[in-house]
Amino acid sequence: MIMSRTPIEIPWKTGKVAVLADLHHDSYNKIRREPFESHGLDRSLQWAELDALIIAGDLANAPFTNWSAAFAYLRRFIDPSRTIIFPGNHDYYAACLCADDELEKLAKAAGVQFAQQREVRHGDDRYFCTTLWTDFAMLNDPEAAMNVARQHMNDYSQIFKRLEAGPLSPSELLGRPQQVAITPEDILALHNTQRSWLEDRLAEPHWVPNGRSFVVTHHGPHPDAAGQIDDLTPAFHSDLTPLFDQHWIDGWYFGHSHRRLAAQVGSTPVRNVSVGFPLEKHGPEELPLEELCLVPLPGASG
Ligand SMILES: [Fe+2]
Repeated sequence: MIMSRTPIEIPWKTGKVAVLADLHHDSYNKIRREPFESHGLDRSLQWAELDALIIAGDLANAPFTNWSAAFAYLRRFIDPSRTIIFPGNHDYYAACLCADDELEKLAKAAGVQFAQQREVRHGDDRYFCTTLWTDFAMLNDPEAAMNVARQHMNDYSQIFKRLEAGPLSPSELLGRPQQVAITPEDILALHNTQRSWLEDRLAEPHWVPNGRSFVVTHHGPHPDAAGQIDDLTPAFHSDLTPLFDQHWIDGWYFGHSHRRLAAQVGSTPVRNVSVGFPLEKHGPEELPLEELCLVPLPGASG
């Protein structure tokens, strides 16, 4: 389990930060396509000017097989030292839900910064990063939502948990023996841990009076940014209205649902920054990703 650690410091040069999620690099690789080129982001983002790129999960399935190729791809656009990642649900596929320490080693081996339950500091801005997962409670019936998730989401056959404590063996890292599939109850417990971490961090005073606080998660924080709601929506988004009410948050970026939507929750702009799968359809209500993904400069309206 990752404990509270020192913040990641990103040097301030231009002040520009982009947040993107759901590159699913392995899915593009399989059909000889590339995620940024497929969505025009190779041209529409001014890569050389970015101080940092934060990847909010779902870089690739089966990370111990596929993350290194994805990092090599990202290196074509931005220096690894300015690339920050934390896992989405797919980054635990064919792996263990407890693999954060090993995922951090993979990222570090590529020179990339790993930010699961970690603060990133950039100028007078702080970003609190975590997968978050979900409480299954958006439609007020968590038990029903868990059952829908169990039946319809690959997470509950592709992600494993350990039955015994201790270091992971090489075969266990790949989701092999001594493990069983996770359950929605495991995810709810992890959500509660990560949500508590986030609330504790948001409650800490900023180090400057007008400093900004952002949240970056893989899962969604509010129904207003979820799009059309159905029985499966609580597996993708929580309703964290009380958290928005209690803390000043200058912006919240997330992915997971692959719907590029924006909402205003109280004083907080909430933005989905999913690249999404190759050939995935995006509806007319969705917004330009190259605009959603850029954090407004301090003093700019966002
Ligand atoms: Fe995704």
